[in-house]
Amino acid sequence: MSCDSLIGVYDSGVGGLSVLRAIRDALPYESLLYVADSAHVPYGDKTQDFVLQRAYAMADYFVSRQAKAMVVACNTATAAAIAPLRARHPDLIIIGVEPAIKPAAHLTHSGVVGVFATTGTLASPKFATLVQREAPEVRIVLRPCPEWVALVEQGRLSGPDVDAAVRAPVEELRAAGADVLVLGCTHFPFLRDAIQAAAGPGVPLLETGAPVARWLKHQLLQRDLLRNGDRSHGDRSHGEPPSATCTLETTGYAPAVAALAERLWAPGVEVAETPARWR
Ligand code: DGL
Repeated sequence: MSCDSLIGVYDSGVGGLSVLRAIRDALPYESLLYVADSAHVPYGDKTQDFVLQRAYAMADYFVSRQAKAMVVACNTATAAAIAPLRARHPDLIIIGVEPAIKPAAHLTHSGVVGVFATTGTLASPKFATLVQREAPEVRIVLRPCPEWVALVEQGRLSGPDVDAAVRAPVEELRAAGADVLVLGCTHFPFLRDAIQAAAGPGVPLLETGAPVARWLKHQLLQRDLLRNGDRSHGDRSHGEPPSATCTLETTGYAPAVAALAERLWAPGVEVAETPARWR
């Protein structure tokens, strides 16, 4: 493993592309490999053990590709698997994502914070501990939204049916007094416009892509594993090409994921199938 090794990023499906975008923006010189575990989406209603086994498979795959770091771009998988994953791969930098409870607790004026996430995330002991630690004085109102994951996986991001699917959960938490809303699932930033419209213009919608990317950069720097170009962000005088490579793979049906990634990532993007052993 060296500075030039890749960074593996995965999610149950395409949601983690919201995190991948923040990573690419923060670290344009790194080689990135994203795996959409689409053969097993959604994770939100699976058992903790199932999500853990998939995390092991993804980590083993990234290690087989000599990755220097791995980002679990999924709140559900982070809640279910991050500690055992770190125990299994102590030499690998492993970064997870968690709902933005701490910044939400600072921002709220009403003292009520709304959280949208998967059933798995909201039911996890890790989420309960996070709330207890970061927001003991705040009332947290929760709404699992598996139907929002399905919308994004179907590429339905706007239109009357999306507005209708988003409206009731948002109104429910707003009616409970929430003045800050946490998007605690990496799929949900792709529905941001619809959620914002339902919540009202001034209501903060918090996601975690950018802080996760900053934390990843910090960890790479600490271990001297950051590629040169990213050390002095903004200074491109050293001549390395930005965004060395960014490869997308899926454990599911590649043409279907490519059609989605066209809209969620970049036009013309190619998606390959992850080798069968890891699917
Ligand atoms: N995007 C994932 C998360 O952040 C998982 C969604 C799902 O597969 O249910 O929780």
